[in-house]
Parts: sequence; structure tokens; C-alpha cells
Amino acid sequence: MSITIHHGHLYSFFFYFLLLQPQQFFVAAGTIPAVIVFGDSSVDTGNNNGIQTLLKSNFEPYGRDFDGGRPTGRFSNGRVPVDFFSEYFGLKKTVPAYLDPSFSMEDFVTGVNFASAGTGYDNTTSQVLNVIPLWKEVDYYKEYQVKLREFVGAEKANEIISKGVYLVSMGTNDFLENYYLLPTTRACYTIQEFEDKLIGIAKQFVEEIYSLGARKISLAGVPPMGCLPLERTINFMATLECNEDYNNVAREFNAKMHDLVKLLNKQLPGIHVVFSNPYNSLLQIIKRPSLFGMDVTYRACCGTGLVEMGYLCVLDNPWACLDANKYVFWDSFHPTEKTNQIMAQHLFKTVLHRFL
Ligand SMILES: *[C@@H]1O[C@H](CO)[C@@H](O)[C@H](O)[C@H]1NC(C)=O
Repeated sequence: MSITIHHGHLYSFFFYFLLLQPQQFFVAAGTIPAVIVFGDSSVDTGNNNGIQTLLKSNFEPYGRDFDGGRPTGRFSNGRVPVDFFSEYFGLKKTVPAYLDPSFSMEDFVTGVNFASAGTGYDNTTSQVLNVIPLWKEVDYYKEYQVKLREFVGAEKANEIISKGVYLVSMGTNDFLENYYLLPTTRACYTIQEFEDKLIGIAKQFVEEIYSLGARKISLAGVPPMGCLPLERTINFMATLECNEDYNNVAREFNAKMHDLVKLLNKQLPGIHVVFSNPYNSLLQIIKRPSLFGMDVTYRACCGTGLVEMGYLCVLDNPWACLDANKYVFWDSFHPTEKTNQIMAQHLFKTVLHRFL
């Protein structure tokens, strides 16, 4: 195999280089007591199963490569990034969903997930598919704190709350399910104003969980939204090409999120916020899948790969691909487990390890 490294591809080279040494991958034990998750389908591990929404994934073919081939409500064929982060911090290999009745406080001591597929920073986003709004995720977190103090005692609970790592990932739905779908939102805001509104909500959210005791917080950026298979399929400007307008918005939003991270670190004593940006690494995988042992990038594994997500994946189950590891995307909106793992390793090595 020969690899030509062009001047402009230095980043790609380092990213590839990092992936060449999986055996040296560092798993830490003991320093992080728990991971606590807020966000959307990029990190939901099953909270939507029990709520009245059409946006679910607790049926086949979802989860077919998960432990036991079990659908869990994760929007992938296997684990999602927060599951890998939990493992890399030396904790469990999966993060239990707070609303899943098969888990109890005993399971939530080392990790708990409040994320809900389809949600976003803006309240309106959660209304589109009737999922859990961010303020309600925070309400559940407050309830969790009370139960945690009862379960492990105040001292241990405070340690879990202040030394736990908070993984926050959302924003894509605010743009794709809200701003670009609802004329009412577009009538109120320019895209820059809307980005600023979301950043303002993210700031308030961090201030709130900080006031509740959170100190180690990862804010995720948004992916190259224009390259999601669904957005390529419906890109009327150039069918099956990435929608560059959406990618530009993603980069602009991520830059503002990065600035917010710097601001929060200056303003709030004792806080440690990091910016976990999936944009460049996901784009790299999409543009050069062969470097990562994959070959299908513009369409997903489930169904025809062009439009299916959620219940549509069941209907088109017979057409699902045979080997999801060859695909960057599992459904038209969400990465495969393989992509999730590559991105999680990269983000852990470059950013999240700083919490250790
Ligand atoms: C979202 O809705 C909740 C509940 O109605 C409200 O308390 C909160 O202020 C709203 N958030 C924003 C940013 O408008």
C-alpha cells in the first residue's frame, strides 16, 4: 500500500497515523467515576423507547451487531460514541438510558444517559417529533441527583457529580428538523441569528449544570450535516453530492461553539469544558473511506440507504446490507458502529483524555 501525503493533507495524515496503533490504545481505570450524557440520537441509548414518538429504533435491523444482536433504541447497528467513551474511561462498555425500566439506580452509579433522539437546543426542535426537550433532560438529571444521594449517600454522590464527565451532543436537528424544515423558524431568524440563539441556549445549559455541580464537560460540535445520506439524496442542486450550504453552516456553528467553550472556561471558576468536534474526522472518513477499511459512503446500510431511518428501516429490512463495517452510515442519518468507534477513539485520544 502506498500513501501519498500532499501538503494540504497533513491533518489527514495525523488522523490516519493515530488509527494505526489500536493496540496501544489507552484505557484508564479509576479516575472518572461516571459519565453523564445529554443530547440527541447521536448519543441516545434508548430513552425514546418509552415515549410517544415516531422516532424510535428499538426494533430490527437496529442493533444487529450489538451484544446479542439486540435492538436497544440506539440509532446504529451497534454502540454509539458515548458507549466507547465510557469504556475508554475504564467504566462500563455501554451507558444505560435513564428511562429504560430494565435499569435501576445501581446501574446509574457509573453512567446515566438522558439523551433523546430528535431533540436539540431549541425547544421547538423537540416538538417536531414529540421527543424530550433539553430542559426536561435537565429535570431528569435533577431527579437523578436526588435518587443518587439516597442510593450512595451525599458524600459519594457529590464526588460522582463533580468528578463525572458530562458528554453533551446535539445541534444537528436544530438545523435539519427545525430551521430548514419549518418556515416559521426561518421567518424569525437569519441562519446566523439562529446559530447565535442555539449558542446562547448551550451557554445557559452549561451554567445550569455547573450550578448543579458539574465541572468536567464536553460540548460536541455538529458533523458535516450536508453529507448525511438523506441530505445527499434530497440535494436538488447536485443529487448525491454533499450539500455544501449545510456543511458551511456546520463549520460556522462549530467555530461559535469553540468560542463558547473558551468563554465558559474563563467565566466559571473550577470548570473544565472541552470542545469535541466530530466534523473533520467524519468528513475525512466520508471522503476517503478506504483508509478506514470501508467503501460505501453516499448511501447507508439499512434499506436502499438513500432515505430510510427508524420504522422505514424495518419495512426495507430485506434490502439491508450484509456487512455494515463496509459502510460509513447505518441509516440515512446515523453512522455505523464502526464509524462511531473510529470517531470515538480519535476524540478520546485528542480531547477527552484531558479529563483523566
Ligand atoms: C423551553 O421551555 C421551557 C418550558 O416551557 C421553558 O422553561 C424554557 O425557558 C424554554 N427555553 C427557552 C430557551 O426558551
